[in-house]
Amino acid sequence: MRILSGIQPSGALHIGNYFGMMKPAIELQARGEAFYFIADYHALTSVGDAISLRQNVLDVALDFLACGLDPARAVFFRQSDVPQHTELAWILSNVTPMSLLEKCHSYKDKTAKGIAPNHGLFAYPVLMAADILIYRSDLVPVGQDQKQHVEVTRDIAIKFNQQYGGGAELLKLPEPEIRDNVATVPGLDGQKMSKSYNNTIEIFTDEKALKKKVMNIVTDSVPMESPKDPDKSHLYALYKLFATPAEAAEMAERFRKGGLGYGEVKKALLQKIWAYFAPAREKRQELMKNMDVVHNVLRHGAERARAEADKTMAAVRQAVGLR
Ligand code: ADP
Ligand code: TRP
Repeated sequence: MRILSGIQPSGALHIGNYFGMMKPAIELQARGEAFYFIADYHALTSVGDAISLRQNVLDVALDFLACGLDPARAVFFRQSDVPQHTELAWILSNVTPMSLLEKCHSYKDKTAKGIAPNHGLFAYPVLMAADILIYRSDLVPVGQDQKQHVEVTRDIAIKFNQQYGGGAELLKLPEPEIRDNVATVPGLDGQKMSKSYNNTIEIFTDEKALKKKVMNIVTDSVPMESPKDPDKSHLYALYKLFATPAEAAEMAERFRKGGLGYGEVKKALLQKIWAYFAPAREKRQELMKNMDVVHNVLRHGAERARAEADKTMAAVRQAVGLR
């Protein structure tokens, strides 16, 4: 089984990224042949300067390796080291109906938030389709918000196969893999945690900054004595991500009983987050002292990825008549 996912180097990674995409991806690397990449072509849609983009790529590489991506198991690379992705994206553009892209929420959401509505942003799902299809991926672990893009990928592959495959599955149809319990990690304000909503808790941050964030989690004004419904509390939802099932059940019980202050829950959450990422923080420190290792991992990953991408591209070029 081939597993593939990508993450954009568009800023510091947060616990929504971690539980929605990184943790499932890391767990899946034991179950098949994993290809994970840093989507720097995609990041051009939001990062407008070279220095930030270069730095963000290295930060994502460090974050992912520190969190447990194992380069001995997974092929880990930078998207722009495999320019074949963009070639396939162009070819796929020609079988992609405009109406398919016009339906995509992500473009509408991003332009509504003030990101310039340029062609790159609009065509982004086609590049993502190329990323997935070029490795003949079976499974794509992503958060809920990316599900539509995997569906678009399937639609594009079907169109391509109809037009050029004569019934054969030239391009393989992938499945999204979305964990129900963490499909959407809430942010400080209870909306989806996202860089663009400014409501994130970063994975790697110092203790003081983390404390500030956790203490700023928005809560309601139900008096301390009153019983509270844990299932309506995003503070509880965050706690649950880090707690054992028994600890989560106990906390839920205390919510329901009343007499529990939100301050106390926040302190417990802060401790949990800090302890949870302690081994990863240590690993990241180690890696930072040895950036050669990181560069080598990406270089080696790119070689393996290019070899795979070339196989698909040879067949695709032949199928469409470019060779
Ligand atoms: P952001 O919304 O912060 O810009 P991205 O869109 O770069 O995050 O998401 C990268 C990956 O992390 C995707 O697979 C996405 O589905 C996942 N992800 C992002 N935010 C969350 C969240 N709040 N809950 C679950 N998964 C998330
Ligand atoms: N669009 C994804 C995001 O914003 C990143 C991404 C790019 C991706 N190409 C991909 C994810 C291919 C999975 C598969 O999070």
